[in-house]
Amino acid sequence: MKILVTGGAGFIGSNLVFTLAERGHKITVVDNLTSGNKKNLKNFKDRFIEDDVSKPAVIEELKKEKFDIIFHEAANTDTTFKNDEEMFRANVDGYKNILSIADISRSAVVYASSAATYGRGKSPMNEDQKPDPLNAYAVSKKMMDDITKEEIKRGTFPIIGLRYFNVYGPRESFKGKSSSMIYQLYLQMKAGKRPRIFKYGEQKRDFIYVKDVVSANIMAMEKTLKGESGIFNVGTARAESFNKLVQELNKNLGTNYNPEYFDNPYGFYQNVTEADMMLSEKNLGFRTEYDIEKGIADYVKYLINCG
Ligand SMILES: NC(=O)c1ccc[n+]([C@@H]2O[C@H](COP(=O)([O-])OP(=O)(O)OC[C@H]3O[C@@H](n4cnc5c(N)ncnc54)[C@H](O)[C@@H]3O)[C@@H](O)[C@H]2O)c1
Repeated sequence: MKILVTGGAGFIGSNLVFTLAERGHKITVVDNLTSGNKKNLKNFKDRFIEDDVSKPAVIEELKKEKFDIIFHEAANTDTTFKNDEEMFRANVDGYKNILSIADISRSAVVYASSAATYGRGKSPMNEDQKPDPLNAYAVSKKMMDDITKEEIKRGTFPIIGLRYFNVYGPRESFKGKSSSMIYQLYLQMKAGKRPRIFKYGEQKRDFIYVKDVVSANIMAMEKTLKGESGIFNVGTARAESFNKLVQELNKNLGTNYNPEYFDNPYGFYQNVTEADMMLSEKNLGFRTEYDIEKGIADYVKYLINCG
């Protein structure tokens, strides 16, 4: 199939690109390299376009092609970004542009939404509960979901939105301060330092390994190609504490660090996120392969092999 992947030089996008390439699909990646890096696409043989999907020029070019499916991963992924208008321009206008391509070519669309839309909402978080976006990034993802719901009513082409929870795994290093807690703690411990976490490490997140996120995308692809649409959670249905991450990293690194606790400076912090995965299981047939123990073990092995 002919596939467009936006944000394909980023963390999740690049993992998806290599899985699609292994399956023999013909892939075009568009990425403006703001948080992604071409090094994430080392040995990628298909087409790479360095451009911004929120700008019209590249969109007009892409409208001339017929993609069977578009995976939209491109976004400003910085949850602390202060310029709201610029955030909405990049994420919401970018998404509308992608939908305008699908509208012409009738391509299926699978896009990245986020658990950030749930904010401090109740856990386990289900797709129908009231959104509570706490920052511009989360608002932009909620706006994308709202646009999707309208588009699904129109029924012109199939769309699946995937609300990722906290993703970790290979190729996230270019995200810097936006990289996962697991990667940041790993770097501290690898450098011989005590891992620094907010007091007292009992905040919980639903951490999902990127290999499972790629599988969810492949399942969503298969559903959209059958004409199905919807918005679904992508998590493990198990919230894990930051203390547990340190424990698993110690186990896999052969270390014995105690965390160094410090005050949480964020007013908008989510204390617990945990996905209700019933709808995803039922509609996508999605089940995770990696729990936190297996995911961290696989990831640490990868990081050590990469030097
Ligand atoms: N990593 C997570 O835990 C997580 C959780 C929820 C949702 N998401 C969503 O998943 C998607 C992928 O995130 P990621 O973690 O791989 O982050 P990432 O920052 O590594 O990937 C985003 C990619 O999009 C590119 N990009 C940004 N703006 C662009 C634009 N206007 N035009 C073209 N390319 C652009 C960046 O250069 C980068 O390569 C994003 O939409 C993000 O919001 C991620």
